[in-house]
Amino acid sequence: MMRCHKVYIGSDHGGFLLKQELSCFLSSHGFEVEDAGVYNTDSADYPDIAIMVSEKVQQNPESKGILVCGSGIGMSMVANKFKGIRAALCSEPLSAKLSREHNDANILCLGARLIGTAMATEIASVFLSTDFSGDRHEKRIQKITKIEERK
Ligand code: RB5
Repeated sequence: MMRCHKVYIGSDHGGFLLKQELSCFLSSHGFEVEDAGVYNTDSADYPDIAIMVSEKVQQNPESKGILVCGSGIGMSMVANKFKGIRAALCSEPLSAKLSREHNDANILCLGARLIGTAMATEIASVFLSTDFSGDRHEKRIQKITKIEERK
């Protein structure tokens, strides 16, 4: 059973269909999902959506974000520019698990052109149900935070 989280989700046109499917899956599994768009397959710029979801996760540290574009790459580039955001681009569940345990990732990025719905739901489930391990990984996260303070 997955623990309950607030999840902010968003996509561009390339990730729209997968985002819709993930949103339904997560809602039906007890997550409170807030959809930042897009709401159709009209061409959209991924930074606009990544900015909205990253700001929401920044403001709600207990929440998580999920961003979907064609490759997941653009979304992860944008999200990782935000202080306190650690976005992980994952194409299989082990990376999602390790991104939580070791990196305390708070946004999951997915590439809709690279993975199917079954894989995406498995990755999201693992991401949202795995805790940060803390301990030796904590000081490494603090080093990331120090880089952000240099900006
Ligand atoms: C849109 O064509 C595509 O560039 C976008 O979805 C994403 O893959 C960018 O990283």
